[in-house]
Amino acid sequence: MLSIRKLTKKENPLLEEHLLRVGGEDRVMRFMGGVNDDFIRAHCSLVGGPSSVVIGCFVDGTLRGASELWFEDDGDRRCELALSVEHDFQGQGIGTELLRRSLVLARNRNAKSIYIACLPENRKMRHLLRKFGRIVTRLDSGTLEAELALPARSHLSLWQEFAGDGIGMMDALVERITHTGASEHRAAA
Ligand SMILES: CC(C)(COP(=O)(O)OP(=O)(O)OC[C@H]1O[C@@H](n2cnc3c(N)ncnc32)[C@H](O)[C@@H]1OP(=O)(O)O)[C@@H](O)C(=O)NCCC(=O)NCCS
Repeated sequence: MLSIRKLTKKENPLLEEHLLRVGGEDRVMRFMGGVNDDFIRAHCSLVGGPSSVVIGCFVDGTLRGASELWFEDDGDRRCELALSVEHDFQGQGIGTELLRRSLVLARNRNAKSIYIACLPENRKMRHLLRKFGRIVTRLDSGTLEAELALPARSHLSLWQEFAGDGIGMMDALVERITHTGASEHRAAA
């Protein structure tokens, strides 16, 4: 079962576990350089404040993909985004769907644009970004910076987010029941 929903601050440990599973080249691509586990733990401790939102993709109850959105509170109303999908779950459309929902969410919070920094050799990410319209890119000091302009929020974009939240809540409930049921079954066996 695949479900996508926002994470609460209490679920930070799930994000940490997910990012710790992202290894090798993927980790380099995500953090734009080799980082150790302590760096990831420190990074996750910052998530969950008023300026960040995480959208997670769960596969059979385990967080396998995440989109982190960081909102700037200055006049630019820019939102910085970072995506991660665990290696075995890539190529199934998870990154695309997380990015699509992130654009809606940022739009609904009045962000004017989404900013994404990645390594120039990150072809998958570049491909993903190109799917979502015209992108202004800059190549600064070995980093590719992409900026996606966002339209103003609309009734439809608000509805899309609310509908996604509702479905996500129901999915979370079903997952909890399924996993509680499965562990009770194992305990009884
Ligand atoms: C980038 C990333 C988030 C993509 O997630 P994903 O779930 O694999 O993405 P999707 O399955 O939705 O789409 C992948 C697309 O890349 C394309 N692709 C795959 N390999 C490619 C390559 N070498 N060059 C160009 N495009 C490629 C696929 O064909 C697919 O496009 P399509 O849907 O038009 O067919 C994932 O690879 C990842 O987590 N990478 C490591 C971390 C990272 O790079 N983060 C981005 C920096 S913030």
